[in-house]
Amino acid sequence: MLNDTVRQQQGLGAMDDTATMAREFSPVERQALDHVWIHSARWLDLAERDGLRVMVRGEGCRLFDAQGRSYLDGLSGLYVVNVGHGRAEIGEAMAKQARELAYVSAASYTNLAAVQLGDVLAGLTPGDLNRFFFCSGGSEAIESAMKIAKQVQAMRGYPKRYKIIARRGGYHGATFGAMSITSSRSEKFFGPFMYGVSFVPSPNRYRNDFGVEGEAGDLLCAEAIEQEILAQGPDTVAAVIGEPVSVSNSNHVPSPRYWQRVREICDTHGVLLIMDEVINGFGRTGTMFATEQFGVVPDLMTMAKGLSSGYAPIAAVAVGEALFDEFKKQDVALAHLLTFGGQAVSCAAALKNIEILQREELPQRSAQQGKYLLGLLQELRPHPTVGDVRGLGLMCAVELVKDKATKEPFGFGPGAASHPYIRRLLELMEERGLLTRVFMALQLCPPLVVSKDEIDQMVTTVDESLSLAEREFGFA
Ligand SMILES: Cc1ncc(COP(=O)(O)O)c(C=O)c1O
Repeated sequence: MLNDTVRQQQGLGAMDDTATMAREFSPVERQALDHVWIHSARWLDLAERDGLRVMVRGEGCRLFDAQGRSYLDGLSGLYVVNVGHGRAEIGEAMAKQARELAYVSAASYTNLAAVQLGDVLAGLTPGDLNRFFFCSGGSEAIESAMKIAKQVQAMRGYPKRYKIIARRGGYHGATFGAMSITSSRSEKFFGPFMYGVSFVPSPNRYRNDFGVEGEAGDLLCAEAIEQEILAQGPDTVAAVIGEPVSVSNSNHVPSPRYWQRVREICDTHGVLLIMDEVINGFGRTGTMFATEQFGVVPDLMTMAKGLSSGYAPIAAVAVGEALFDEFKKQDVALAHLLTFGGQAVSCAAALKNIEILQREELPQRSAQQGKYLLGLLQELRPHPTVGDVRGLGLMCAVELVKDKATKEPFGFGPGAASHPYIRRLLELMEERGLLTRVFMALQLCPPLVVSKDEIDQMVTTVDESLSLAEREFGFA
């Protein structure tokens, strides 16, 4: 039982020892409460706030829970299920692969599905990104990309080039290295972090670090990367990393000139460029990869989530020919091995998923439906707590503020999620059957198969929930 101070901090009323939980739980929900550690949920949110959802089925953009309730999935799970839920043909492809061959050692061999997937991906990724290091999730892809970058730098004769420059507000994963380059890392619980990481401003057209608007503000963020490389000493920096459009930084879309300038700066100083397409990739922003829209080819590109649309855990690092050539030339192995890298059933799921993305032209659909969604969301601007609306493809965000004039936020980064207003807004949307995520911004990133009717329903629910929450909290 939590003491009243903690309860107050979490926006809950006082509770005595005899208080009961919010609702009756079914046996499966009781088991979930007793045995499953839902990753970033707090116990009280699950047990008392009616936040526990045991999902049993999905179809297109809809999810169904153990209570028989139905929801619109406004976040594609967690920016994952690009082809939508319930694709039987992916399940069949996985079953066929499992029957034939599920696993061979990632240390010594590969398998047919992994080879086919590498070949298909090489045809989709930009430039010379033709070599794929397979792993199981986004964080592993990030760890792998950093290790490849560091080893290449050492093999090129720069063993002191080990530092990584990341961007403020960026998120790259939860394992130790990935967390270390994530700016919302928890010093209190996990510090000290990996040594040699620094953070620079990220493009932000709403609250630019330099107070400069538009493309000029983006370009100052690029120049800040060069200043940081010079400040650290170019011969100590291995790589710069960033998402083409940063979702953790609430979907600010930079000018292509930003990424082109970052590419130039990296080339000038012998620094490798890692672009993190874990969320952006596989049609989310309206093209297969977001890098295409910025006209740059990174040295390394990480991908996960939409690679299999969540039907199986799989991720990859796409590596440029020039980097892999170092390993060929020097006949050295990468000092890095992940048991499940290239697992055959996961590769089969990814192959079928990519076939669907292409057959149904889902990246193009993401661009079209994304425009429609963004247009409707723009109409929410008159709300007293809506500060900004932006996005690219089906990756849209509504930034929420306490005060439009001062742009005062409800909190920073994921911290904003614990503000009572934000919590209430999320609760109101869930009660109305819309699942999404709200930190500094409310995210709408549905499966790429979303229909106009479903988009209408989502935006109507957001509109109603904003009105109710604003009235309850005295904003309207
Ligand atoms: C941009 C980005 N990179 C990396 C990751 C880490 O991926 P995973 O959670 O699969 O480890 C995430 C997760 O959300 C992400 O958003």
